[in-house]
Parts: sequence; C-alpha cells; structure tokens
Amino acid sequence: MSEIISQDKSKVILAANSITRRFGGLVAVNNVSFQVNQHEIFGLIGPNGAGKTTLFNLITALIPLSEGRLIYQGKEISQLRPHQIAALGIARTFQNIRLFGELSVLENVIIARHLHTKSNMITGVLGLPPAPREEYNTKQKALELLELVGLSDRTAEKAKNFAYGDQRRLEIARALALEPQILLLDEPAAGMNPSEKHQLSEFIRNIRDRFNLTIILIEHHVPLVMGLCDRIAVLDFGQLIALGEPSVVRNNPAVIAAYLGNE
Ligand SMILES: Nc1ncnc2c1ncn2[C@@H]1O[C@H](COP(=O)(O)OP(=O)(O)O)[C@@H](O)[C@H]1O
Ligand SMILES: [Mg+2]
Repeated sequence: MSEIISQDKSKVILAANSITRRFGGLVAVNNVSFQVNQHEIFGLIGPNGAGKTTLFNLITALIPLSEGRLIYQGKEISQLRPHQIAALGIARTFQNIRLFGELSVLENVIIARHLHTKSNMITGVLGLPPAPREEYNTKQKALELLELVGLSDRTAEKAKNFAYGDQRRLEIARALALEPQILLLDEPAAGMNPSEKHQLSEFIRNIRDRFNLTIILIEHHVPLVMGLCDRIAVLDFGQLIALGEPSVVRNNPAVIAAYLGNE
C-alpha cells in the first residue's frame, strides 16, 4: 500500500492490525492494517470480491479472524462474540438486507432497541413484561429514528412490502437504535435512485454529526464516496492498495488500474 497518514493515537477509535481471513485456499482479506479516527467518515472501496464485506464480517465478529488483531477504543475485540461487539457500540447494515419482513417497520426498530434497554435483559429472562415506562421510551425512540430516516408515516407497514431504498433506510434506523459509536454501512445506496443517493449522502453526514458517530462506508457509487468520505481505503484481491484522502486516492495509479479505470 502506498500512503499511510500518520495519526494522533488518541483519535483512533478502531484499528485493524495485520488482519487476514482465509476461506480454504482463498485469502479474502490479506494482512490488512488501517486505523479509523473518531468522527470520521471512512470509505471502503474496491472491485467486487475485493473483501470489503468480509472485512465488516470480521469487525462485527460474524466470522473469526484467521490472523491479526482488531482494537476498538484501545481494547482488543478480536475474541468477542457478535452481541458483545454490538453492546460495545459497533452496529452495521447488510449488503443483503436483513430485516424481519413479516414484522412492521416500527417493530423492526423496537426489537433492535430492546437490545439496548437493561430491564429487558432481566424481564426477558424471567418472562416478565417490560416496565411500562421503558416500553414507552423504547417506542418513542423508535418513532424518532423512523422520523429521522423519513419513514414515520409508514410505521405500521410490513417491512417486506417496502421498496429497496426504503428498506435500506429502515436498516439504518435499526442500526441507530443500538446507539452505536461506529456505524458500518455496507452499500447503503444500492437500489436507490439518483435523488435518493444524493439525499443519502446528506443523511449520512447528518447522523454522523447528530449522534457523534464514526462511519465506515462500503459504497460503489464513486461520486458519493469521493464527496462524502474524509479518507478512503481501497481493497483489491484482499489487499489494501491505497489509503488516504479522496483526492489522493482518486489519482493513485494502482487504484485507477484496479478500480476507477473500470468506471
Ligand atoms: N463465507 C464465505 N465462504 C467462502 N468464501 C467467501 C465467504 N465470504 C466471502 N467469500 C469470498 O471472499 C471474497 C471476498 O468477498 P466479499 O468480502 O464479499 O467481497 P466484496 O464485499 O468486496 O465484494 C470473494 O471471493 C468471496 O467469494
Ligand atoms: Mg460486499
């Protein structure tokens, strides 16, 4: 890889140290190192099959690392389970949308939010109903999030009846319900029309500022990535071939050859 920008360690929220993931003989993520700063919008681009989603699966512990370490807020998280990662404040959306299709839009967000309310853990185990006050707060919060993503007038509809772009927004609302510190978005603009893509860009910036988030964004739509991200990492065949500010990455010959040249 060509550019590493030296960083103030106190600002680093997530670090990948020489992480590798193999699937049999295939090295999907190959000795990748990078650091993400607090409050940053960090882009992750590269051709199909480059290892981007695998990287998200590693960070969220859906699959184990083959080698290397992941450090979040100064602590190693490499050995944790997915629910522990979520509880620490790392939430994500999926390239292949994962919603409860038969549940309403509101219910989809409330379920995620329940993960975050303490008494639910206890009442859930004991089979008791949640405290009414908490139930109210959970619903209020869910409605606020749905308002934020522009779905507040459709909260009773089943998630499966939503158009693609709306499902993606619902997934973001659900991830935000976990009150994350880091939000990982896997191709959030896929299936959106140009005007939705433009809105999404502003929306991502807004939620970053409003919730003081750090965002890692996988996205194929190059203008969106270049316009939105503070820094961009480029993967190609599992390897990090460039990392830096958009203007630098855009002019990197290896990136043009591997990725941008095909646009
Ligand atoms: N669970 C898996 N088992 C086997 N191979 C996988 C698995 N997940 C991903 N891969 C392979 O790893 C490579 C990277 O995939 P992926 O991370 O989905 O790429 P991207 O998101 O950049 O398009 C691909 O060759 C893909 O086929
Ligand atoms: Mg992918």
